[in-house]
Amino acid sequence: MANTIATPNAPYNSNLQALIEYPQQGILSKVILKDKNSQYTLFCLAKGTEIEEHTSTRNATVMVFEGAGTLTLNQEKILLNPGVFVFMPAHAPHALEAEENLAFVLILSEQPQVKTFVSPETLERIKSTAPLLKKQGQEITTRMYEIMFKNHPEVKEQFNMEDQKNGSQPARLATAIYSYATHIDDLESLKSMVERVAHRHVETHVQPEQYSIVGESLLQAMKDVLGDAATDEVMAAWKEAYQLLAEVFIKREHQIYEQEA
Ligand code: HEM
Repeated sequence: MANTIATPNAPYNSNLQALIEYPQQGILSKVILKDKNSQYTLFCLAKGTEIEEHTSTRNATVMVFEGAGTLTLNQEKILLNPGVFVFMPAHAPHALEAEENLAFVLILSEQPQVKTFVSPETLERIKSTAPLLKKQGQEITTRMYEIMFKNHPEVKEQFNMEDQKNGSQPARLATAIYSYATHIDDLESLKSMVERVAHRHVETHVQPEQYSIVGESLLQAMKDVLGDAATDEVMAAWKEAYQLLAEVFIKREHQIYEQEA
């Protein structure tokens, strides 16, 4: 169970000790404070609880308040007792075992920044292809799904095939790619599109490793449809630009998956 106890505008004034309560078994967590840069969560683990090895995309610190346990961080065992303060860098594998009832605050720092720009040459080339995408976008995305479903038929089950037949999904993808081409230097303005698509992706269980499948199908489709206009320079620019867009989605979808976990 997780609930937010304070916000930056309405701080919680009481003693943290008063918030500690242990479940019969497992973990009780309470988000004490959260803003867009960081999150402070109180974890209360019942004696005997184990958290299997996992990683986090964010830097984290653990501050132990009471109890006893063992944190295994990068294969090194660290005893957790009141007052212990441990820094865990992003992506470091860690696991936890509570030998006694154990209470600690976990502080997650700012999300690591993804690259938010492409080179100036790429930017110009992408913008120069926008008129082509406006005209032939849906032809490209229809071809892209054709290539993807032929080479990777297993992804078909994530899609509504009716929307493929009536062209509405290729149209939605074409609109998104055209918007990206015209706003690649102002990603902030794509926020509402990214939100909508990322939520739809999470609903349909899209995984980070699937972005390379879509990427290679999309680039091939551009070549097929644009013909001579798909010069090596244009294709190299789209390869770089696609990677950036994929990272934006992967990062946002990761956050949504974590919130829903
Ligand atoms: C940068 C790459 C991608 C872009 C620009 C993109 C764009 C979109 C858009 C615009 C939609 C429609 C959202 C809505 O309902 O309004 C969508 C839906 C969807 N996308 Fe993506 N997508 C990308 C990557 C992927 C990947 C890697 C997969 C994995 C196979 C995927 C699978 C899906 C699925 C399953 C849906 C729902 C389609 C349906 O309802 O039939 N997408 N995407």
